[in-house]
Parts: sequence; C-alpha cells; structure tokens
Amino acid sequence: MDIILGIESSCDDTSAAVIMDGYLLSNVLASQDVHRAYGGVIPELASRAHQLNIVPVVSEAISRAGISASDITAIAFTRGPGLLGSLLVGTSFAKGLSIALDRPLIEVNHLQGHVLANFIRQYDKDTPVPEFPYLCLLVSGGNSQIVKVNSPLDFEILGQTIDDAVGEAFDKCSKMMGLGYPGGPVVDRLAKLGDPDKFHFARPHVPGLDYSFSGVKTSLLYFVRDRLAADPDFMEKNKEDICASFQRTLIEILMDKLIKAARQTGIRQITIGGGVSANSGLRTAVTEEGRKRGWTTYLPEFKFTTDNAAMIAIAGYFHYLNGERTGLDVAPVSRIADFRS
Ligand code: KG4
Repeated sequence: MDIILGIESSCDDTSAAVIMDGYLLSNVLASQDVHRAYGGVIPELASRAHQLNIVPVVSEAISRAGISASDITAIAFTRGPGLLGSLLVGTSFAKGLSIALDRPLIEVNHLQGHVLANFIRQYDKDTPVPEFPYLCLLVSGGNSQIVKVNSPLDFEILGQTIDDAVGEAFDKCSKMMGLGYPGGPVVDRLAKLGDPDKFHFARPHVPGLDYSFSGVKTSLLYFVRDRLAADPDFMEKNKEDICASFQRTLIEILMDKLIKAARQTGIRQITIGGGVSANSGLRTAVTEEGRKRGWTTYLPEFKFTTDNAAMIAIAGYFHYLNGERTGLDVAPVSRIADFRS
C-alpha cells in the first residue's frame, strides 16, 4: 500500500492531498483572496499566505484522509514552475516533513500534474482514465501547449504558445473590461449570456501546432478603445456579447490546432488540463468535436482543473513507482526549461 502526500504551492493556492494506490483520500485547498484587490497575484503576499496556510492545510489533508502522518509512504511536492517565494514554502515544508517522518521526497513538475490529472481515481466514482498515447491540451495562466503523453513519465510537446498563454488572454480581457480577477471564470459566466457571433477579433497565423494569443489580445484592446470613444456606455451595454465573442475566438484558436494535432498523430484519446480547462465553452467544444471525429474525450473534474495537490500526488505516485527519489538538497525553480524534467 503506497500513500502519497502531495503538496502544491506554486502560485496562489495552498493545497495538500493524500492518494492511496492512485485513489484520492483527501484534497484540501486554501485560496488566497488577498490578491483580488490588486487585480492579479502579488508574489510577496502569496508566499506570506502560503506560510500561514501550509501547516493547517497539510494537517487537514492528513486528518480528512483518515490516516496518521506515520502512514505516509512518500511526500510529493511541486518543485516548479511557479513563483519562487511560493514554491519555497511548499518545498521547505516538504523537506522538513521528510526529515521528521523519515520518508522520501519526490519532486513534481507542476505541468506534469495538470497533464496527469485525469488519472486521479476516486472511490465513489468510476471515472475512466485515458489510454496511452493521448493528447492533452494544457491551458492555464502560464501555458498553452499540446502535449503527447506516451506514458505517465514520457511527454512530447507538439505545440506551444510563442507569446502569451490563453489564460492570460482571458485575464486581460476581464481586466480591460473592469470585470475583476481572475478573469476566466467571469468571462465564462458572462459569455453564456451573450452572442458569440456579434463581434470579430483578429486570428493568429502561426505555422504548425504552435499558438499565439498576443494579437487577439491587442485586437480586443483596440476594439474596446475605439468603441468606448464613440459611446462611453458601450462596454456596459455589450459586455455579455463581447465576452461571448472573445471567448469563442480563443476556443476556435485552441481547437484548430488540437484538431490538427489529432489528425497528424492519428491519436483519438484527447484530454484537457490546466485552469482554462474549467471553461464551459471549451469543454463543450472538445466534447462536440470529439463526438464528430470519433475521439474519446476526458474532461477533468472542475476541482482538478485549477491548481490542486491531488494532481501533484498522482504525478508523484507515478514517479515513486518508477523508483525516483529527490535529495534533501533540492531547490525550487521558477522556470523549468524542459517540461519533461
Ligand atoms: O492552472 P491555473 O490555476 O494556474 C496556472 O496558471 O498554473 O490557471 C489559472 C488560469 C487563469 O488565467 C484563469 O483566468 C483561468 O485559468 N481560468 C479560466 C476559467 N477558470 C480559470 N479561464 C477560462 N474559463 C474558466 N472558467
């Protein structure tokens, strides 16, 4: 019986989870509301909040799992990428616990966690897991990638953004419209009430399977500026239609390359992951395209789309089974050049 404690602190969520032989026993998350007033994550405040939250969050995860700390087999933690001050809190805590319990440490690449989130099994649900190889559309605040997953430890990046991530485009859209932070969920909610055909935004022309989102963001910026100059109430009167049209453009850009990747590789097992995979329009688009094209699609549960420790624990479990162990001299890294490491 392998019991993995996962610890995630890469950005503004402090999370701990316990997984036993691949099955989730607990997943506790403390979000940080302190950033809302600033319209974005303030790294200094994030690391302080992690420092406050880490002990109660880990204790709660252990207690909700119905185990005691001594039952833990290994401690998996997010080494990066992310905010360095935030990562330091989780990494240092994981090291301390490893020494105190005399249990091995396992470093996890946060992005691998998102890509493997569909493998989190739950006792009360019979959720199917993808077959290898599969494609994962990894979409978050920092990434937009198409990843070919050959095994739990073997990844190939087929395409990625050459500038902004799609989550940034959602967040900037919300900021430009004065709708608050994080932008994705607000834009998603308003988009449901609007007409996606009402407005049109620039589309990128990037070769291959790579993405670009900076042009569409700029296109929205000029659109908002020009329309507001003509009518100061334009935004208020049209916010649902702007959100629906902008979201639809982003989803079409994402789907275009995903469809191409599936066609080029012949792979029909398709998953999505990362914060933007919570988007209702994207989930519908993937499901509908999948139905048309004979894909088997796997959508992670909402609680496993944004940052969470359950995905770190499951990725750590795969590394643990592979015999990997991390030394106590490990240091967090804000950027990881190679997604696979
Ligand atoms: O994966 P994540 O929690 O953090 C990292 O970037 O690692 O992703 C956060 C991103 C933010 O940009 C947020 O606006 C976006 O995910 N997001 C959404 C939705 N929920 C969160 N974007 C679109 N629609 C949503 N429902």
